[in-house]
Amino acid sequence: MSERKKRILLVIGGGIAAYKCLELIRRARERGYAVRAVMTKAAAEFVTPLSVGALTGDRVFQDLFSLDDEREIGHIRLSREADLIVVAPATADLMAKMAGGHADDLATAVLLATDKPVLVAPAMNPYMWRHPATQRNAATLLADGVALIGPNVGEMAERNETGPGRMAEPHEILAAIEARLAPAPTGLLAPPPLITPPAEGLPLAGRHVIVTSGPTHEPIDPVRYIANRSSGKQGHAIAAAAAALGARVTLVSGPTTQPDPKGVDVIRIEAARDMLAAVKAALPADCAIFAAAVADWRVASASDEKIKKDGKSSAPRLELIENPDILKTIAHEGPGRRPSLVIGFAAETENVVAYAQKKRKSKGCDWIVANDVSPETGIMGGDRNTVHLVTAHGVEDWPEMDKGAVAEALMARVAAHLRTMTADV
Ligand SMILES: Cc1cc2nc3c(=O)[nH]c(=O)nc-3n(C[C@H](O)[C@H](O)[C@H](O)COP(=O)(O)O)c2cc1C
Repeated sequence: MSERKKRILLVIGGGIAAYKCLELIRRARERGYAVRAVMTKAAAEFVTPLSVGALTGDRVFQDLFSLDDEREIGHIRLSREADLIVVAPATADLMAKMAGGHADDLATAVLLATDKPVLVAPAMNPYMWRHPATQRNAATLLADGVALIGPNVGEMAERNETGPGRMAEPHEILAAIEARLAPAPTGLLAPPPLITPPAEGLPLAGRHVIVTSGPTHEPIDPVRYIANRSSGKQGHAIAAAAAALGARVTLVSGPTTQPDPKGVDVIRIEAARDMLAAVKAALPADCAIFAAAVADWRVASASDEKIKKDGKSSAPRLELIENPDILKTIAHEGPGRRPSLVIGFAAETENVVAYAQKKRKSKGCDWIVANDVSPETGIMGGDRNTVHLVTAHGVEDWPEMDKGAVAEALMARVAAHLRTMTADV
């Protein structure tokens, strides 16, 4: 029996980049997707419904109050019949309406009424994108489980304007579509989730999530240690967000001053080797998120007694050896032990994204959350974070958010991903 064509509902907003959606429709249909389009009133100022309809091979829906449209298919069915809703270009206005839950035209009514995953490709002037209102709206959409692709940095249609705001290219949007519509990987490294969540209830109910957080302390002697500046704020926020979505959470934490998140099983450790042992003992899990800043090295032979000065003229020499690689070890666990989704963090001070892409491959994990922790960013120990989510299908540049919002957005993505895997197995 041949497989049913996957259906994309493309919502076209009123921006200059609307012309690129023609190319997107063409490419998506070449890949075998059925595409149906909804256009906002403003979108029709930029591309004609005739061109869009000619390329989709279907009628184009524009009016919430059209008697014919409503009788024939209706806005609720329109939103439910799709496998994925793609908003491209997503104007600042459309994003604001989505974040606010408006439904005063067909596009927004469909987006509010849907139970399907939504992918948004913002396209606007860099000042509009950077405006705190748009950044707030983007953060709200991420926290609501909506996926963003782009915007890219580049030249704008307006002369002499460069910056973030260019819509992702059609081939990039198509890759993001394929990532969301592709069947879940099967095979040894991706066993099905251990527990199927109940149809009703919180999105992570029945799931086990392991999170690591904070620094590790590597002993030099009983009173001294090597540490780093990690506060544990991001890892603890992730554990709290996972618990809020109904997961059973095991938080393996290095020494921090962060309070224990409510409803989370906290295991306190000091050194990297203890962290690895605690994570292994907590397996199996559906998802493991390694947000701790684990020391790469430890002192080869820590002294059992306090090292004394004793009038010696030279300082003691410390030989360092490598710590176990917790992320890599767990990513290479065998079937039934490796979590379906393994997420690492990459805190860097230069070439953040390039390094994260390399790290994702070399560690064998599924996603990397990368951030720039140069001292001027104030991220290490601070309350806000600007992250890039690196997956097998590309890079998402998330707007600056507080660490709680990053955690909520990440866990919403995890929930959506695990749901897709369950649906496809
Ligand atoms: C020439 C022109 C180009 C525009 N380009 C954009 C754009 O790229 N991104 C954007 O967010 N708004 C843009 N706008 C403003 C939107 O068209 C306007 O906010 C409109 O209300 C959006 O409606 P919609 O969100 O329902 O599609 C542009 C307006 C004009 C006149």
